[in-house]
Formats: sequence, C-alpha cells, structure tokens
Amino acid sequence: MIFGRQKPLDAILATAERKSLKRSLGAFQLTLFGIGCIIGTGIFVLTAAGAQKAGPGLILSFVVAGAVCVVAALCYAEIAAMVPVAGSAYTYTYTAMGELLAWTVGWALVLEYAIAASAVSVGWSGYFTGTILRETLGWDIPTWLSAGPIWLGGVEGGFINLPAVFIALLVTGLLMIGTRESAIFNAVLVAIKITALTIFCFLTLPAAEASNFEPFMPAGLVALGGVGVIGAASTIFFAYVGFDAVSTAAEETKNPQRNVPIGLIGSLGICTIFYMLVAAGAVGTIGGQPIMGPNGLPLVTGSPELAAACALPQNAAALVCSNEALAHVLRTLGYAGIGNMMGYAAFIALPSVILILLFGQTRIFFVMSRDGLLPERLSRVHPKWRTPHVVTAITGVVVAFAAAFLPVGQLADIANAGTLYAFMMVGIAVWVLRKKEPNRERKFRVPALWLVAPLTIVGCIGLFAFLPYAAMAVLPIWTVIGLVVYFGYSYRSSHLGQGRVEVHEPEIHDIEPPIPGVDEPERA
Ligand code: ALA
Repeated sequence: MIFGRQKPLDAILATAERKSLKRSLGAFQLTLFGIGCIIGTGIFVLTAAGAQKAGPGLILSFVVAGAVCVVAALCYAEIAAMVPVAGSAYTYTYTAMGELLAWTVGWALVLEYAIAASAVSVGWSGYFTGTILRETLGWDIPTWLSAGPIWLGGVEGGFINLPAVFIALLVTGLLMIGTRESAIFNAVLVAIKITALTIFCFLTLPAAEASNFEPFMPAGLVALGGVGVIGAASTIFFAYVGFDAVSTAAEETKNPQRNVPIGLIGSLGICTIFYMLVAAGAVGTIGGQPIMGPNGLPLVTGSPELAAACALPQNAAALVCSNEALAHVLRTLGYAGIGNMMGYAAFIALPSVILILLFGQTRIFFVMSRDGLLPERLSRVHPKWRTPHVVTAITGVVVAFAAAFLPVGQLADIANAGTLYAFMMVGIAVWVLRKKEPNRERKFRVPALWLVAPLTIVGCIGLFAFLPYAAMAVLPIWTVIGLVVYFGYSYRSSHLGQGRVEVHEPEIHDIEPPIPGVDEPERA
C-alpha cells in the first residue's frame, strides 16, 4: 500500500539515542540561535514589498504571520522534543504519515531552504550594491550585472544579479570546507542585528506622524491579487522563516520540555515585536502608502508597471520602491551615516542566514539520501573536510542560479509556499502521532492541541491562499516533478521499501547543525 511505508518511531529514536549528544543548550542560547536564523532579508528588504501590498497595515501583517508561526512553533516543539533527530518536518512526516507524504515534504523543504537562501542572497546584493558600492565607494555597478531581467520581475535593463551569485557561491564554498557558525559568532551577529533594529526604532518612532498611518489599510484586509493586509502577511511570513531550525536542537538541549518551547516562542516573540515596531517606524516617518494602479489596487510587486512607476522622479523616495528599505528610511530622514551603518549590519549579518539555510538544505538532502530516496552518492562525505560536499555543491549552484535571475520578492513568495506546506504537515503530524503513539513519552505537550493544530493547518492554508498566483502555482508543479522522481527512482531505491530499517550513525555528526554552545558530540 502506497501510504503504508511508515518509518518505525523506535528505529528513529534508536538513532537519536545512540547519538547521545551533549545536552548543553539553555533557553537563552536557543533563543539567540532562533533570532540568528530569523532576522534577515525579510525585515531588511521585504518591508518595502509588504508596504506596497498593505500600506501601514503592514504592522498587522507582521502580527498575522507571527501568529501562524507561533502555533506552528508549538507543534514543532512537541514533535522535536519527542523525535529529536535530523531531517525536521521530513522525518516527522515519515514516521507519522509515511514515505510518500514525507517525500513531498522533503521535496517542498527545497523551496523553504534552497530558494530562501536564494532570496537572502538577492537581499544581500541590494545592500551590497547600494550601501557598500554606491554609498561608500561611489561605484555604480551596471544594472545588467546587478538585477534579473524585467520579464522575470527584475528591473529594466537587468540581466543577471552577479553579487547574489557571488555570495551564494562563497557561502557554499565555506560550507563545503566545513565552516560552522560558532556560538560566539552567532551571538555577535545577533547583537549586530538587534542593535541595528533598536537604533532604527529609536530614531524613527519618535518622529512618526499620525497622518502617515492614514489610510491604515488602503487595500483592505483582503483584496484580489494577493494584496491587502493578509496578502502582505503571506509575503512577510518570510521574515519568520528559519525559526524551525531551533527544533533541530532539541536533542542538545537541557530540559527540552521547558527550553525548546521557550527558544521557539521566545525568539519568535522578540522578532514579532521588533518587526511591528520597525514597520511602524518606517511607515510612520517617510510614509508607506502603496503605489496604486488604474484599478484602484496596489500595483503588483515585481511587475514591470511597478518598476516603471518607481522610475518616476516623484517616487524616488518612496519606501515601496527601495531595495534597502531600512537604510533608505534613515537616509531619507537625514541620517545618512546611520543609514549606511544599517546597510553594513545587513551586509555582515545576512550571509550567516544564507549559511544556516543552505546548511539546513544539505542536511535534509543528506537524510533523504541516507534513507535511499535520493542517490547515496549525494551523501558522500569528503575525506578531508568531513562534509557532504557533493550535495552542498549541487545545492549551492542551484541556489546561485535562482538568485541570478529572480527578484527577492518572487523568491521569498516561492520559499513561503514550500514552508507553509511543511508547517501544515507538522501540524497534522503532531496530531496523528498523538493518536498513533498515545503512550509515548512527550517532553513537551502542545496545550489545547485540538485548537492549536487546526489553527496551524488553517493558518498555513490561509496564508498560502493569499500568495501571488505564480508562487502558489510553483508548489503543485514542483510536487508533480517530485512525484515523477519518487515513482521513477525513490520508490524502488527506498531502504524502507527494501526492508532495510537501519540505525545509521557515523556520518551524521559531520553535518550536525551549527548549534551554539555545543562542542563535539559525545558518544555514549
Ligand atoms: N527569516 C529569514 C530572513 O528574513 C529567512 O532572511
């Protein structure tokens, strides 16, 4: 039976038990790790796209997207504390709902991790060309080398985004030779990001004017074409992508019952508050009204019409037209130097988000190939670097390719589509496991699961439904391609299908996630 291939939970847990990682993480470290994964292109760049969809109502969009993430985070917390092994949503689905659905989740996670890494690379490119090259060095890189083509949603005269390709390949190279983000490095980057956002709030919020919040929801709550507050929430959901990385640290956490939920909810809560304040500061000072089209609705982000409108002199200072939203706000307010500092913060901190996302992608591929669903050659570990170099290199090239030609907004929307699918499946998996394994020890139990799990599922479907049509279409197309691969290859090569339920061990240590404060894992 096609849904019958379910990986026994005992086999999965045996792997985890034999790994016996040192339990050294506390709530504070986990929260820092979460913030390190979460804050990135979403707030530094997509604030502009969010304002174009919702206007000042963007503040509410951050609340809506944050709320969906909080209920999803609770589901992650229960399942991660119970099944604390690599592979995240893919592994959870494998044990709860079987191989076929797990495959679709693993396949969708490519969108979450790889395409999100492309989006952050393009976001970084905006700050690199704007703050570093133009503002600091006085160089203007030609448009055809710094943006994708207009017919793919780029800008007039754009062809390839070379800085984005460069950063994606650079981070890939670092990962291949075994670079990890240390606890201290992560803490420093988090401090830089938090300081930058705090300064932004201090400079903008006191200068905010009530008139800039009028009309508050120029495109309403929901409107056609994915605009309005909910449409913007679907896009800026990207600003929260990555928090699920905290769940992968369950096995290394002291008292996971208490600390994993605190890490997940704490990092999400802190980021949500910052995001709302930053959005209020941005639109409250320089205004965040969308540029409207002839139909009375905001022009579509990434459309040639919006690009043309943004090229007009009267829109030169508009928040919604900026590639470096936060730096742009401060420059417009006369804080040119501090605006540049904001750009430097993004320039320094965004590559670590790319690193975490790329790392997550290689780990998912690694686990899938270890399960026999992808060729085992992919999970080969380099003899000297001790990293899965083949899969890392392939992933990096794909990430760089997508970053070369597509704009950040489209990439983020596609990443959101895959992430929402994975979150929804975790919402289902946690419920299924409660029924299937009622007596299994749970270090953390979602309170009121009967409410939280459906809210997760409905929230994910709701946000998905308000993504732009093109991004929505990518998920089913991508899934069909995945199913062709599954039935053409994976179904037969699956270890579980061949009756091999193994407890794998050694290599996984080589690709453990970059968890702050964890030294070398100790074997039992
Ligand atoms: N949440 C991460 C970002 O905004 C992916 O860059």
